[in-house]
Amino acid sequence: MSKLQQKVEQVVAVLTEAVHDYAPVAFANSLGAEDMVLMDLIDRYNFDIEMFSLDTGRLPQETYNLMQAVRTRYKSSLRIYFPNVKQIEEYVAKNGVNGFYESVDLRKRCCHIRKVEPLRRALNGKRAWVTGMRQVQAASRINLKLSAYDMDNRMQKFNPLLEWSHEEVWQYIKENDVPYNKLHDDFYPSIGCAPCTRAVTPGEDVRAGRWWWESSGNKECGLHVGKVIPIK
Ligand code: ADX
Ligand code: SF4
Repeated sequence: MSKLQQKVEQVVAVLTEAVHDYAPVAFANSLGAEDMVLMDLIDRYNFDIEMFSLDTGRLPQETYNLMQAVRTRYKSSLRIYFPNVKQIEEYVAKNGVNGFYESVDLRKRCCHIRKVEPLRRALNGKRAWVTGMRQVQAASRINLKLSAYDMDNRMQKFNPLLEWSHEEVWQYIKENDVPYNKLHDDFYPSIGCAPCTRAVTPGEDVRAGRWWWESSGNKECGLHVGKVIPIK
């Protein structure tokens, strides 16, 4: 069995455990390369896992193109959550539509309204959630576990691609002809909202293009800040 096939089997085992022990389970799909691997596997193996995306309203056109393309490619549906209109209107009235460039505080507030609050709604009623995070993506992700209790959302959190390398993610995508965000071809390894994501230059950190004007310690959007208690 190839190394990639072993990794795929590990993902299938983790997802099987999640559904068996923690149903109902939801998968947060940002449509990034890692998440497309998971979407492909969840669809292929018919896992009973609800897939959702958080549409912040500021995503790049390429992400919307992919969001549309997955509707025909996969039989599983992708539910889209939008931010609360009143909160967005208040934020924009007070800080302007691009207020997030002014301070880390205003940036985090925007991420809270456009991502964290919709995430809470998406996870409501679930007992576990799945992400596409990998250990080597960032220093802040080095302590991630395959499965841990997420104190913030009060449910189990699974990171089945934890031990995958960048190369393995792309090998899977190419071998299985998985659709992907075309921005990845233009040196965008990590893609978030359009105004807060730029391309990286060779040798730069994979997350250097996210909130590039901030110091590197702050580069999480609030979806994954909570305390987690590893169980294995
Ligand atoms: S972020 O915290 O900086 O935005 P990143 O883009 O690396 O995180 O994504 C990490 C994981 O968070 C993804 O694999 C996915 O599970 C979840 N995630 C991030 N953005 C979204 C989104 N817009 N919709 C759904 N899930 C998301
Ligand atoms: Fe707002 Fe930028 Fe965060 Fe998107 S990434 S929610 S635009 S601050």
